[in-house]
Amino acid sequence: MSIRHFIQFADLSGAEIRTLLARATELKQRRAAGDRPRLFEHKVLTMIFEKSSTRTRVSFETAMIEGGGGAIFLSPRDSQLGRGEPVEDTARVLSQMCDAIMVRTFAHDIVERLAQFASVPVINGLTDRFHPCQVLADMQTYFEHRGDIAGRKVAWVGDGNNMCNTYIEAAALLDFELVVAVPAGFEPSALPAASSAQGHVTLTEDPMEAVQGADLVVTDVWVSMGQEEDAARRRQVMAPFQVNSALLARAAPRALFMHCLPAHRGEEVAAEVLELPHSVVWEEAGNRLHAQKALLEFLLQSGR
Ligand code: CP
Ligand code: NVA
Repeated sequence: MSIRHFIQFADLSGAEIRTLLARATELKQRRAAGDRPRLFEHKVLTMIFEKSSTRTRVSFETAMIEGGGGAIFLSPRDSQLGRGEPVEDTARVLSQMCDAIMVRTFAHDIVERLAQFASVPVINGLTDRFHPCQVLADMQTYFEHRGDIAGRKVAWVGDGNNMCNTYIEAAALLDFELVVAVPAGFEPSALPAASSAQGHVTLTEDPMEAVQGADLVVTDVWVSMGQEEDAARRRQVMAPFQVNSALLARAAPRALFMHCLPAHRGEEVAAEVLELPHSVVWEEAGNRLHAQKALLEFLLQSGR
C-alpha cells in the first residue's frame, strides 16, 4: 500500500471519512471510560508551525503522547526552514527520523511540495487554502449529535476562506447541501476547481437565504492569519454577515452552530450565539483530539 497524506479533505474517500469518524467517536468513548490505547508506541510526529496555534498543536501533541509516542514542535524561528532550507530538503531529512509530518503554513503548495518529497504521511494543519483536520472534527461533532450529514443543509456564512474551501470538498464527499453566503469579492477559491462540488454547493450574498432551514450553521473569523493588513476593509464589508440570534432563528429548529475558533465576539459571531443550546463549539474543539488520533492511526497504517 502506498503512503497516504491528508493535505485536503478530498484525499480521503467518503467511505474512509465515515470509517474514520466512527473510530474517532469510539476512541472518545474509550477515553471517557479511562482507556487510552497505545496507538502510537515509539512513533514520532514532527509538527512544523509557521502560524500560531492553540488547538491544532495541543491536540496533535496530546494525541501522540496519549498513544505512547511523541511530537516535536518546529517553528521557522528556531529551525533551518526560517533560514531558507528548502522544504523539499526538509521533507527528505525529516522522513528519515520521524513517522509523520504535520505542517501549518501559508501557501498551500508548500504542503504539496513537502508531501511530494516525504516518504512518511504529511498532514495539513492549515494552509491559506484548506483546513481539513478541523472539518474532520466538525463532521465528527455533527454525526455524534444528529447522525449522518448526507442530505442535510449546511450554511456557511462570512468569508470564503480556508475553512469554507474545505466545507466545499466535504459537501461533495459526504453528500450534503452547502449554501455559502459571502460578500462579493470574497468567494471561496475552491469553488471553480471543485467540479464534483457542483450540485452540492450554491453561492449567495444573502445570509438569511443561506441559513433558511439549515441543519448546521458555520462561520469563521473575517481576518484569517496572514490577512491582518486588510483587516479594516474585511470587517466593514463582512459586517452584514454576522451570525447572531436573529440570523440563527431562520435555521431549522434543531440546527447546530459551529465555529473552528478562535472566535471574535461582536465580529463574525455575536457573543450570545456561542452560549446558545445550538452551539457545539467547545465539543467541536475537543473533538480535534479524537479525530486526529483516528487520522494518525489511519495514515500510519499506510505504506506498510
Ligand atoms: N481551530 C484551530 O485550528 O485552532 P488553532 O489555530 O488554535 O490551532
Ligand atoms: N480561517 C482561520 C482559521 C483559524 C483556525 C485562519 O486561517 O486564520
